Amino acid sequence: LILILDFGGQYSQLIARRVREASVYCEIKPYRISLEEIMRLNPKGIIMSGGPASVYAENAPRIEPGLFELGIPVLGICYGMQLMALTLGGVVKRAERKEYGITPLFIDRPEGILQGFSGETQALMSHGDSIEKPPAGFKVLAHTENTPIAAMGNPEKNLFGVQFHPEVHHTPGGQEIIRNFLFNICECSGDWTVESFVDNTVRGIKERVGDRKVLCALSGGIDSSVAAVLVHRAVGDNLTCIFVDHGLLRKDEGAKVERIFRETFDVNLIKVEAGERFLGKLKGITDPERKRKIIGEEFIRVFEEEAKKLGKIDFLVQGTLYPDVIESGTDTAAVIKSHHNVGGLPEDMDFELIEPLRDLFKDEVRKVAAEIGLPDEIVWRQPFPGPGLAVRVLGEITEEKLAILREADAVVEEEIKKAGLYKEIWQAFAVLPNMKSVGVMGDDRTYAYAVIIRAVNSSDGMTADWVRLPYEVLERISSRIVNEVRGVNRVVYDITSKPPGTIEWE
Ligand code: XMP
Repeated sequence: LILILDFGGQYSQLIARRVREASVYCEIKPYRISLEEIMRLNPKGIIMSGGPASVYAENAPRIEPGLFELGIPVLGICYGMQLMALTLGGVVKRAERKEYGITPLFIDRPEGILQGFSGETQALMSHGDSIEKPPAGFKVLAHTENTPIAAMGNPEKNLFGVQFHPEVHHTPGGQEIIRNFLFNICECSGDWTVESFVDNTVRGIKERVGDRKVLCALSGGIDSSVAAVLVHRAVGDNLTCIFVDHGLLRKDEGAKVERIFRETFDVNLIKVEAGERFLGKLKGITDPERKRKIIGEEFIRVFEEEAKKLGKIDFLVQGTLYPDVIESGTDTAAVIKSHHNVGGLPEDMDFELIEPLRDLFKDEVRKVAAEIGLPDEIVWRQPFPGPGLAVRVLGEITEEKLAILREADAVVEEEIKKAGLYKEIWQAFAVLPNMKSVGVMGDDRTYAYAVIIRAVNSSDGMTADWVRLPYEVLERISSRIVNEVRGVNRVVYDITSKPPGTIEWE
């Protein structure tokens, strides 16, 4: 185990991710944990993360000096390094100005964490304060133009610090530095795998839950699916999954999810057919935000009704990923759309949360999904919004429009898959605008819906670029839709990026 002490830095999770990439197990804990707790965890090494504070700020996070006397190797990054220096009697200089950016890094001594380095490399700097004098026993290992002590180390005690951020890709030798720490200094074996993540997680959940009852809102997306399967492995029939079919799913989607969870995984599954109920509430509603609100609220109502029938439930499973944890931390961002997740559950429900994926990034979740045997159609499923097709049928939602959109969307998905592009594209789908146009078919005039094709690439959904789909693929999509989907006589392609467009149309 490598223990990462989190001082509130924006990259703490990335450190964990780099450690996992080196096949070493790690856990992130708040910097406040006690020395006893650290000793109980018995880590092979400790990494102190960066953080936003200045070591001189009032209430700046501190650590017990005893941390450095445990005989456990420590790597301090940025704030972690400054705190190490200050705690051990070095001198930290207050910032006159901040240093930020990719900076040439000059190696002074290729030792310890810098073993194998020489000459000059690059590193991402992002700091205010810097170290003026290292503590006794420390040598300077590297410097930059503005930072005389960019890396330091006390090889006798296995204590090291770097002012830059080895965990980001902007520091090309970063992973090597982390590997040096893990393997040369901490002597980790590097045999941690996705399989052991699954084993540890399942064991942890089993211990925590005992024979109490767990509830999960399943959407069929990868996150809630993986979370559900992990919890199911741990507690079996003490888990009940509720899958609300709000009638706004894609073609055959509800049936597929049901089949996978009932038949392949033998999970206790309650599928609620609530299509009529949702459509009833949405009748006559055209305002996008109203539509979203109604769906969100109705979802909670349906979920609560079902949950009540089950009697006392102690835990709720959520498929929260690390990026969701960061994003929900922004309380200043403007509301562009009120997002609804199956995770958007009532706040006053009295559950403890189980969030087995809280530390993972999406690609890691995919690996876990494959490991636990989820089929490709879930592992590689593109993101799908909680309110479903409601945000893709513009204006009032009717059964007729939903049926048209489902068929058109299925063509898009099929053709994108046939072209081998499905895994490369963030999202590709059809939208049905509230608009008809004139066309000609055979000798007859038609007056029918247009369908919009949208395909975007994105790494997190926050920004996106429209995909330059090959013309042949667009052509096949277009001709199949107008030929196969009744009620459509025109296909257009959305070439707007985000910003200024959003990915979904509503
Ligand atoms: P927008 O349209 O805001 O979408 O650019 C960004 C990403 O989020 C998805 N999306 C949602 N996901 N609940 C969700 O779980 C929602 O209410 C929701 N609205 C949009 C969208 O598909 C895209 O991937």
